[in-house]
Amino acid sequence: MKFNILSFRLFLNTTLFTCFFLSSCKFSKQNTDVGLDTIPSLSKLYENDFYIGTAVSTSKLADSTYSATIVKHFNSVTAENVMKWEKIHPQPGVYNFAAADSFMAFAEKNNMHIVGHVLVWHSQTPDWVFQDAKGKLVNRDTLLNRMHDHINTIVGRYKGRVHCWDVVNEAIGDDSEMRKSQWYNIIGDDYVQKAFEYAHNADSSAMLIYNDYSLPTASKRNAVVQLIKKLQSKGIKVDRVGMQGHYHLDYPFLYELDSSIAAFANLGVKVSITELDINILPFPSEKFDADIGMKFEMNDSLNPYVNGLPDSMQVVLANRYADFFNIFLKYKENIDRVTLWGINDGQSWLNYWPIPGRTNYPLLFDREYQPKQAFWKLVELAKENN
Ligand code: G3I
Repeated sequence: MKFNILSFRLFLNTTLFTCFFLSSCKFSKQNTDVGLDTIPSLSKLYENDFYIGTAVSTSKLADSTYSATIVKHFNSVTAENVMKWEKIHPQPGVYNFAAADSFMAFAEKNNMHIVGHVLVWHSQTPDWVFQDAKGKLVNRDTLLNRMHDHINTIVGRYKGRVHCWDVVNEAIGDDSEMRKSQWYNIIGDDYVQKAFEYAHNADSSAMLIYNDYSLPTASKRNAVVQLIKKLQSKGIKVDRVGMQGHYHLDYPFLYELDSSIAAFANLGVKVSITELDINILPFPSEKFDADIGMKFEMNDSLNPYVNGLPDSMQVVLANRYADFFNIFLKYKENIDRVTLWGINDGQSWLNYWPIPGRTNYPLLFDREYQPKQAFWKLVELAKENN
């Protein structure tokens, strides 16, 4: 069954790209320079449904087009990188708060709903966290102490100001078992519980999120349902399941996404769509996921849109966004936030992953900050629903 679904997806992928090569490669004129004042605000259009968020790259905030676009269209912001362990706590006892503080200042000045990302993750965590001075792995108690110090310091600093924290990211592996990270190997599977306890103790008013990718996939969905149930049975406060939303034209099937939102809502937690983008480039593997460690060689056929995205594909992307938003609207009582993972196509991590140097188009604004057809499709959808 799994093989059949994968084959079908590969077939869809191949078909889409064949259609593109056979088509007349008509490119849409995106750069008609639509001013920000002349277009509707996305977050205002969806304000009765859920927050519309974006990931913020703090180093770009000085660019007035970048920051004005955020202020115009988004009412929730997530720190894309500056609160990650390697950035905010690069060495033992050394905390670098400057970038996170400026992210907070921007968000607070603009009355945004603020998401802190991320406290405990297997990635972007320096090796020293897991090692002693001689490079040997530390024991459970030492690692728990380090986790506690980290969470208590960061959550404590932004207490009452960061509204939601991604407490644990990606604890379930692609085999749908607990990921065999250093956190798991050294502490054991209660490391997730401990992280949530420490975060709650540091700020009892913050909403706490378990965040992961590929959650529409049934096996991973079920693993997360079991994980949350286990935490709930121990009285641990988990407020949200964060579905990252790094999707493709042919992953997930809509029924898979629908079933996962329903399953998480049944646990009595809200769902946040935390990192939405739609990869339109051919995926070089049968495994559709967002494992940041994955890397493949560049090849021209895997980078077909270096000169722009043809109209036909703009329409496909717009319809895909609308399909997802239709499901989000169906579950709007259970969804608190839909966060896009970036502002414009040129800034997306999907230009570098899983093949560095490709030209991707996963977001709502083009490289000149002009709204794409996908943006207008979401405007239309919001108007139809209000
Ligand atoms: O901008 C440079 C570019 O100039 C350079 O040529 C290129 C070479 O590889 O690197 C580019 O920067 C990279 C940047 O992503 C581009 O977006 C950084 O090296 C890389 O460290 C950075 O990665 C971040 C990644 O997490 C790792 O921390 C991404 O910004 C960020 O979007 C991504 O976000 C993660 C979430 O935190 C967790 N869920 C998955 C999501 C996507 O991986």
